[in-house]
Amino acid sequence: MNEHKKIQLKDYRPFEFIVDHVDLIFDIRDDHTRVTSKLKMRKDPARANETTPLVLNKGTFDIVSVVAGDMVLLPSEYKSDDETFSLLATPDLFELEITNILKPDENTALEGLYRSGNILCTQCEAQGFRNITPYPDRPDVMAPFSCTIVADKARYPVLLSNGNLVKSGDLDNNRHFAVWEDPFKKPCYLFALVAGDLAVLKDQFTTASGRDVALNIYSEKEDIALCSHAMTSLKQAMAWDEKRFGREYDLDLYQIVAINDFNAGAMENKGLNIFNAKYVLADPQTATDDDFMGIQGVIAHEYFHNWTGNRVTLKNWFQLSLKEGLTVFRDQEFSSDMNSRPVKRIRVVKNLMAAQFPEDSGPMTHPVRPDSYIKMDNFYTMTVYEKGAEVIRMIYQLLGQDLFRKGMDLYFEKFDGMAVTLEDFVGVMAKVSGRNLDQFFLWYTQSGTPAVSMTRQYDENTEILSLTFTQTTSPDRNQSEKKPFHIPVRISLINRAGETVKQDALYELTKETDTFKFDNVPADTYPSVFREFTAPVRLTTDFSDQDLAFLMARDTDPFNQWHAAQTLFVNEIKNLVTAIQANKPMTVSSGLVKAFSLALENREKDRAFLSKALTLPLETEIKNHFKIIDVEAIHQARTFLKQTLAKKLASELKTVYEICRSANPDDISGAAMADRSLKNLCLSYLGCLVNKDIQDLVQKQFETAGNMTDEFAAFKILSHMNPDVRDEACHAFYDKWQTRTLVIDKWFSVQAQSSLEDTLDQVKKLTAHKDFTMANPNKVRALIFAFAMNNPMHFHRADGRGYEFVAERILALDKINHQTAARLCSCFNLWKRYDGNRQVMMKKQLETMAGQKELSRNLYEIVSRALE
Ligand code: ARG
Ligand code: ZN
Repeated sequence: MNEHKKIQLKDYRPFEFIVDHVDLIFDIRDDHTRVTSKLKMRKDPARANETTPLVLNKGTFDIVSVVAGDMVLLPSEYKSDDETFSLLATPDLFELEITNILKPDENTALEGLYRSGNILCTQCEAQGFRNITPYPDRPDVMAPFSCTIVADKARYPVLLSNGNLVKSGDLDNNRHFAVWEDPFKKPCYLFALVAGDLAVLKDQFTTASGRDVALNIYSEKEDIALCSHAMTSLKQAMAWDEKRFGREYDLDLYQIVAINDFNAGAMENKGLNIFNAKYVLADPQTATDDDFMGIQGVIAHEYFHNWTGNRVTLKNWFQLSLKEGLTVFRDQEFSSDMNSRPVKRIRVVKNLMAAQFPEDSGPMTHPVRPDSYIKMDNFYTMTVYEKGAEVIRMIYQLLGQDLFRKGMDLYFEKFDGMAVTLEDFVGVMAKVSGRNLDQFFLWYTQSGTPAVSMTRQYDENTEILSLTFTQTTSPDRNQSEKKPFHIPVRISLINRAGETVKQDALYELTKETDTFKFDNVPADTYPSVFREFTAPVRLTTDFSDQDLAFLMARDTDPFNQWHAAQTLFVNEIKNLVTAIQANKPMTVSSGLVKAFSLALENREKDRAFLSKALTLPLETEIKNHFKIIDVEAIHQARTFLKQTLAKKLASELKTVYEICRSANPDDISGAAMADRSLKNLCLSYLGCLVNKDIQDLVQKQFETAGNMTDEFAAFKILSHMNPDVRDEACHAFYDKWQTRTLVIDKWFSVQAQSSLEDTLDQVKKLTAHKDFTMANPNKVRALIFAFAMNNPMHFHRADGRGYEFVAERILALDKINHQTAARLCSCFNLWKRYDGNRQVMMKKQLETMAGQKELSRNLYEIVSRALE
C-alpha cells in the first residue's frame, strides 16, 4: 500500500491567478469526446511582474495541443503528468487554449464526463472537473463559463449545460450544436453537461418579483410520466425559499436531469441539476411513501443550494458544511413545513443517532470542519451534512427565528458572488445578535458526540427543583483533550396531569457542569429537557422506566415522547441482552407492554407520529448503546421483544390495522401516508408471529396492494418468514416489476436484509443475476451495502464468511468505482467494538485490503484510518 499525501486546512493558500472567462467546447464523437478549453487568465495583481508558475490540476488524459496567446506550444514548453499541467512562467495577462481527448465510455468511476446508458453527463464535485480539462480545480476560483456542445443529432438530440441557451443549430453530417452561457461566476465543481435522447416535462414558475422561470425535468423517454412529483416538489421549494428566506431564483431556466448511474443523491450544478433517478422518478405504483418524501427533500435541497452553495460558495473544501449543513437545515425546515414537523424531526434525529453518532465514535471521526483529508469524496459524511445541520439548528435556537433570518440576509448581502468560510457565516450571526459565538465555534472544530447527563434534585420545603447537567466528550484522534461545548437546552416543566407548569425556554450549558434552579415547583413535576433535540448529544437522565413511560404518554413535546419510548425500548433490550448473556430466561416487563398498548389506544393522535413512536430501534441503532457489541444477543433480544409485544397485543394490533386500511391507495396526502405507516407497522409486528392466519393476511396485502408502500411492506415481512414463502414472494415481485430498475433495487435490498439462515448464499447468488452489476451504484447499494450495513446478523456471521464476501466485493469495486468502494468499506469501521473473534476476522480483511498493490486513494484513506 502506497502512502498518500494529506491535504491540510492550515496549508491553504489563495490561487495566484484569476480566471476571467472559461470557454469550453465539447466535440462528442462515437468513441471519444474532444474537449477544448479557452481560458482568459491574469496573474493576481499582487504578483504582477513576479515569475509565478501556473499549475493546473489535471486527470490522466493526454493533451493534444496547447496554445498560449497565438503561439502553439511544443510539449517541451509545458509540463503535463497524471496530476498537473504547468507552465513555468506566464505574462500578467494571457489566454490559454488546451485541447484533450476523453473516453467517457470507459469512465466507470462516474466522476468527470461519463456515460450512463444512452446519456453523456458530468459529475464534478468535489474534484471531477480536472478529469475533463486542466483547470484550477478549487472552489475559490470563480469564473463565468460558456459551453459549446457539438454532437450527432439523432443520438444526442438534447444538449444541455449551465445557464442560458444562447445559440443552437444544425451542422453537416447530421450533427448539431448548442451554445450555453452562464452569466454567474462559479467554481468549476458546479459545471455540468448533459447530452442524450431525453424526454422533457415542462412547467413554469413566476417568482415573487414577477419573473417567469421555465422549469424542465428531463429523463429517459420511458420514465417521463414519473417526473410530476419532482416538478411539484420543485415549485413548492421555489415558493418556500421566497417566503421563508426571501430568496428568488436568478436565471430564466431551471433544469433537472434524472440519471441511472450516479454516485451520490444529486448535484446542484448551476441551472442544471443532475440527479440520481431514484430522487426524481415516482408514482404510487412503484415508489413508496418514503420515496416520495425523499424526492421532495432532495429536489428542495439541490434547489436551495442555488443560494447556499452556488451564489455564496466555499473558500476551500474544508468548509463543505458551510453549504451542506446549512442546506440540509434548510431542506429539513422545508420538509417540516410541508409535512408533519415532529415526524420530520424524529426521522432526522433517528438517522443522526443511527449513523452520525457511530461515525463520530470510530476511525472516521472528524470535526464538522475537518482539518485534513486525502480524498475529499470521503468527507461527504453524516458529520458534515447531518451534524452540520444540527449546528446550524443550534444557532437558529440561540438567536431565534427573526435574528437568524437577519443573519441570513446579511450573509447573502455581504458574501454574494464570493467564496467564504464558516467563520464568515458564524460571524454574521454573531454580528446581528450581538452574541459572542467563540465557544460555540468548537462545534465546528472539535469532533465527538458530547455525553450529557441530567440529574434532578427537589427540595420539598423550598419547592425548588434543580437540574444539573454534566457534559463530557471522550478524547479521540483529533483532540486528546476536549473543551466543554456551548450547548443550548430547551426545557419545560409538566405536572402529573400532563399540564405545563413552566413554559418552554432556552437554557445554555457552557461549563462541564451547569445547574438550573426552578422555584415554586410542586412535587411530582417532570422536566422535559432537550425538547426537539436542541443539541446533538447523547443524553442520559435519572428517569426511571416509570418516568419514561409517563413521558412517553404525556410529554408535551412529541419528539420527547418518541425519545422516551425509544429509551424504554433500549432499556428493555439491554435487560434482555443481559439475561441472554447470563443464560437466564427472558422476560418483558409488564410496564412496557402497558405503555405500548396505551399508546396504541390513543390512535386518534397523529398516526404518522404514533407509527414512529412504536417502532423498535433497529439492531444497528441498538448496538450503539453497548461498549462491546454482541450481535447475536441483540438480534435475539429485539426479536423476542417484538414477538412478545405482538403476542400480547395481537388483537389491538389487528384492530388498528383494520382501522387504518381505508386510505385510497394513490393518495399521497399526509393523512393517507400516516394511515399506511401505522397500518404497516402493525402488520410488521403481527408478521413476526408464526401463524397461518397472519401469513394469509400479509400474503393478501402483498397480492392485492394498490401501491408500492403496501406491497413493499408486505414483501419485507414475507422475506423473513421462511425460505419457501420468501422465494415465492421474490418470484412474484420480480415477475411483476422486472422492467422497472428502481423497483428491482428494492427487490435486491429486501433479499439482502432477510434474517433467514441462507441469506449470505442468496446474496452471493444475486451478484450473478442478470439485473445486477457492480457498475451501477444503486445496484451495489441495494445488494451489497444493504447486506453489509443493514443485516448485522449475517454480515457479522460467526464464521467470518460475511466479512470475506464484502471485503472481496470492495476490492472488486475499487477497480471500477473508487468513491463507492471507499463508502462501502466503512462497514468495517467499528471492528474494535466486537468480540475478540470478530475483531480478528474484521481486522484481517482490512489488512488484506491494505496489502493490495493498487488501492485507490479513496479506499486507502478509509482502510488506513481504520487500522491506525
Ligand atoms: N453537493 C451534492 C449534494 O449534497 C453532493 C455531491 C456529492 N459528491 C461526492 N463526491 N460525494 O447535494
Ligand atoms: Zn448538498
